[in-house]
Formats: sequence, structure tokens, C-alpha cells
Amino acid sequence: MERVNFTQMKDGTKEEYEFLTNHEIEYTKGTAERLLTALEKLDEGLSGYQITRLGHSTQSATRAWRDGADIDWVVSALLHDIGDIFAPYNHDEYAATILKPFVREQCRWCVETHGDFQMLYYGHHLEGFDQNKRDRHKGHKYFADCAEFCERWDQASFDPDYDSLPLSFFAPMVHEVFARTPYDPAVTGAADQPLCVAEVAAARALEEAKP
Ligand SMILES: [Fe+2]
Ligand SMILES: [Fe+2]
Repeated sequence: MERVNFTQMKDGTKEEYEFLTNHEIEYTKGTAERLLTALEKLDEGLSGYQITRLGHSTQSATRAWRDGADIDWVVSALLHDIGDIFAPYNHDEYAATILKPFVREQCRWCVETHGDFQMLYYGHHLEGFDQNKRDRHKGHKYFADCAEFCERWDQASFDPDYDSLPLSFFAPMVHEVFARTPYDPAVTGAADQPLCVAEVAAARALEEAKP
């Protein structure tokens, strides 16, 4: 079978749906590569900052990695603004939806709400914006994590002089995360992890400093 015969879903046969399911499974194997390509497209978007959105993404991920954060954090930091391409009004939710089946809940929540938290840094400069929008999440168990996510990795990552690692450095991590079994409770329900692991960060800095 190369393609199905039906023109309305209700007429499809068991064999046709099994064929389509196999096709979809094959297609999902390309998710990581498609995301990396989408990240490259962020290089073209949103002018006005001193760095591109791709530069901001790799800088956020580099800061996360140098903080000793684990792979779920690093990939979440890398992808946190990928929604800028198609969802400029809810880019945070868009990115969180992509990540949801493949990272733990802690990271998904922080990506999903980072837009509200980021307003702390600029909301007071603009008419109609609420600098304290993050307060609506007060009491949530990940409030402090998202505040730290924004402070350490997001709002800090617009520096054209920062030595960010290239997208290619993070590509294997993106592949690893998106090769996971989707919605695996062992992944989505995994134990929370700190953002900044001081000892690991120090060791990595030493490693990088070697000639
Ligand atoms: Fe953002
Ligand atoms: Fe950002």
C-alpha cells in the first residue's frame, strides 16, 4: 500500500489505519531534526535586539548547560521561544506544548508560563502591561523555578558578546529528548531538578578552560 483509498475518514479500513499509523510513527522520528531547522529559522525573525532569536535561544541553553542543569532544562531553555515563529501572542504555551510529551512537568510548566514571569523585567515600561503578571502563579510549586529560569537564562540572554555554544552542540540533546517514549510517566513525572548545580557548573567551566 502506498496510500489509502478513502476520501472520508469514516470509510477507512483497519489495514489502512494500521498503514497510516506506521507512517506517522516513521514521521515522528524526524521531530528533532524539524525542530532544529525551525530554530535556525529563528535567526531571521524579530529584529531590534542586539542578537537574533536563535542567538537568544542558544545563549539561554548555554547558560543552562554551564549552570550544570540537566538535559530537560537545557533543551527546554533552547526551545523556550520557538513559538515566536507561529504564535507570537502565546509563544510560551506553544513551546510548552511541543515539549510536554518529552520533558518532566517542572520544565514544561516553566516554559509555559515564562511569558508572564518575564514581564517583571519590562512590564513597567509599557502601557497596558502588568509588571507583576507572574503574581497570578504565586503559591505554585514551580513559581521559584520559573523565576530562576527567567532571571538566570531568559532575561540575561540578549548579550551579543556572550560566548554561546552553537546549535550543533545542543543537537544531540534535542535528538535524545525527542527520541523518548512520548508521555512516559517516568519522564513527565520524573523528580524535580535544580536549575543551577554549582559543583557541576564549576567542573564544566574548568573543562572548557582546558586548551
Ligand atoms: Fe519568551
Ligand atoms: Fe526568551
